[in-house]
Amino acid sequence: MSAAQSETAGPDLTQGVAIDTLADGAMVAGHVGDAAVLIARRGNEFFAIGATCTHYNGPLAEGLIVDDTVRCPWHHACFSLRTGEALHAPALAPVACWSTEQRDGKVFVREKATRAPRLRVAPLRESPRKIVIIGGGAAGFAAAEMLRRQRYEGSIVMLSDDAAPPVDRPNLSKDYLAGSAPEDWVPLRADSFYTEASIDLRLKTAVTAIDVPAREVALRDGSKVAYDRLLLATGAEAVRLPLPGMDLPHVHTLRTLDDCRAIIARAATSRRAVVMGASFIGLEVAASLRSRGIDVHVVAPDKRPMERVLGAQIGDFVRGLHEEHGVIFHLEDTATAIDARRVTLKSGGTIDADLVVAGVGVRPRLTLAEKAGLAIDRGVTVNAYLETGAPGIFAAGDIARWPDVHSGGAIRVEHWVVAQRQGQIAALNMLGGREKFDAVPFFWSQHYDVPINYVGHAESWDELVIEGDVAKRDCTVHYKRGGRVLAVASIYRDTASLKVEAAMEQADKS
Ligand SMILES: Cc1cc2nc3c(=O)[nH]c(=O)nc-3n(C[C@H](O)[C@H](O)[C@H](O)COP(=O)(O)OP(=O)(O)OC[C@H]3O[C@@H](n4cnc5c(N)ncnc54)[C@H](O)[C@@H]3O)c2cc1C
Ligand code: FES
Repeated sequence: MSAAQSETAGPDLTQGVAIDTLADGAMVAGHVGDAAVLIARRGNEFFAIGATCTHYNGPLAEGLIVDDTVRCPWHHACFSLRTGEALHAPALAPVACWSTEQRDGKVFVREKATRAPRLRVAPLRESPRKIVIIGGGAAGFAAAEMLRRQRYEGSIVMLSDDAAPPVDRPNLSKDYLAGSAPEDWVPLRADSFYTEASIDLRLKTAVTAIDVPAREVALRDGSKVAYDRLLLATGAEAVRLPLPGMDLPHVHTLRTLDDCRAIIARAATSRRAVVMGASFIGLEVAASLRSRGIDVHVVAPDKRPMERVLGAQIGDFVRGLHEEHGVIFHLEDTATAIDARRVTLKSGGTIDADLVVAGVGVRPRLTLAEKAGLAIDRGVTVNAYLETGAPGIFAAGDIARWPDVHSGGAIRVEHWVVAQRQGQIAALNMLGGREKFDAVPFFWSQHYDVPINYVGHAESWDELVIEGDVAKRDCTVHYKRGGRVLAVASIYRDTASLKVEAAMEQADKS
C-alpha cells in the first residue's frame, strides 16, 4: 500500500488537453486543484474521474479501459467512467467525477459532478424484508455493502463469530504483520459505518444451525433469527497439524485479526521463527517477520515454494527472493514435534524457535451447510447465480463451488477478490436480480516489494509459456492446457495481466 502519486502531479486538466494526443482508450493523469484526476477517452466521449484507486491508492491512469470502465493495475478493481462507482471489488468506495467540455480541439475538465450509482436490480414487488448474512469476512461484508448501495431498505443482520468487525484480511500477512501499516488500515469500514447503514453487525455470535423449512438460523446462545434470504459466507479456517506441541502458546495459525495480533505480540520478544508451509500465507508471513528483524526458517514438504499453483520457474524465483532476504528453507521436510524451544524435523534435525507459525492451508467451514442438508462437493455447491439448492439460501466466498465459465468446471478458490465479488453478486440476486457470477478469478500475493498477480484458474497444465524474464521480475507466465490459456501469472506486468483478464471476459461473452 502506498500513495500512487502526488495529488498535483501532471498537467492542470482545467487548462485543457489536446484531443489529438488522446487516442481511443487512452488516459492522461493530471490534477484539478489539489485532486488527482484522469481524463479517459472512449470513442468520442471523454470522462474525468479521480485518478487514485480507493482500494490501496493504485494509479488508475496506468490501468486499462474496458468499455466504459477503468480497471486498476494493482488488484483489478473496476470503476465506472460514467459515475465513478466501484463496480467490482476490491475497491468498495467510488472515485469522484468531473464534467468535461470539448472546445477548440481540446478537452477541459470542469466542475465536480455528483452521479448516483446505477441501480442494477429492478425493485421487486415483494422485496425481501429480512436478509441474514452468516460471516463477517470478504463475501459477507461486500454483500451487505452492495445491498445498501442498491438502496435496499429492509433489515440486514450480519452474524460473525469473530471478535473483530470485517477486516482487510490480506493485510494480516503483509503490511500489518510487517509493522508498516497503521491500525486504521485494517477494518474494511469504521465502526460507525454499520450504525449509519443500519447493518446489525453481531460479533462473537456463532450460528449453530439453519432451519431451512422455517427460514431461521439458530445462534449458540439459543436465540433464533428469521430470514427471507440467507447468505452463507462462513469462509475457511486455518488447518492445525496434528503435531505434539501445536497447542503451545508460541505456536500460531493466521486467519483473524486476533491471530495476527497474537503473532505480533510474540514477535516483539522473538529472535527466531519457524514458518511451516511454503505457500502464499506462509511465505508472506516469512517476509513480514523478516521485516521485523526476526530470523526465519521455512519448513515445507514441497520441492519448491508455490510450485503446485505457479510452476517451477516462479517457485525458484520466490525461493531466491526470500533467500536474498535471509530466509532459510528446509524443503522436502516436515516438522514432527514442537517444544518450547525448538522444532524437530522428520529429517532428524532440530531448529531453535521461540515463534512458530503454521501456514499449511485452510479448510472451508462447511459444517452449517452440511447440517442443513445443502449439496456439498468439497464446498457448498451453488449455481451461476450463487444459489444453493435450498430456497432463499445463497453461498459465496471460500466455501462456494460454482460453475466457472472460463475453466468450464465447477471450482472453489480462496481468493479475496473472488469472495468479495461473489458477495456483491449474491446481494444483487438476493434482491431479485439475475446476474451470473462470471468474473475471471484473480488473486495477488506480495513478497517484500514484489507483487505476483494471477488471473484465471489452472489446477493443472500441460504447457507453461514464459514471456519476459522471471529472474528480472518482468514476466508473464501462461498456464495452458490443450493449447488454451487457462491462467496467467505476472510480475510487474500489470497492463498485460489486465488485458488477459479482459480477453478472458470477452472470450466467454462471445
Ligand atoms: C492472512 C491471510 C492473507 C490472505 N491474503 C490474500 C491475498 O493476498 N490475496 C487473496 O486473493 N486472498 C488472500 N487471502 C484469502 C482471503 O482472505 C479469503 O479468500 C477471503 O477472506 C474469503 O472470504 P470469505 O468471506 O469467504 O471468508 P472469511 O473472510 O474468512 O470470512 C468468514 C466469516 O465467517 C465467520 N463465520 C464462520 N462460521 C461462522 C459461524 N458458524 N457463525 C458465525 N460466523 C461464522 C467468520 O468469523 C468470518 O467472519 C488471505 C487470507 C489470509 C488468512
Ligand atoms: S489499489 Fe486498486 S485494486 Fe488495489
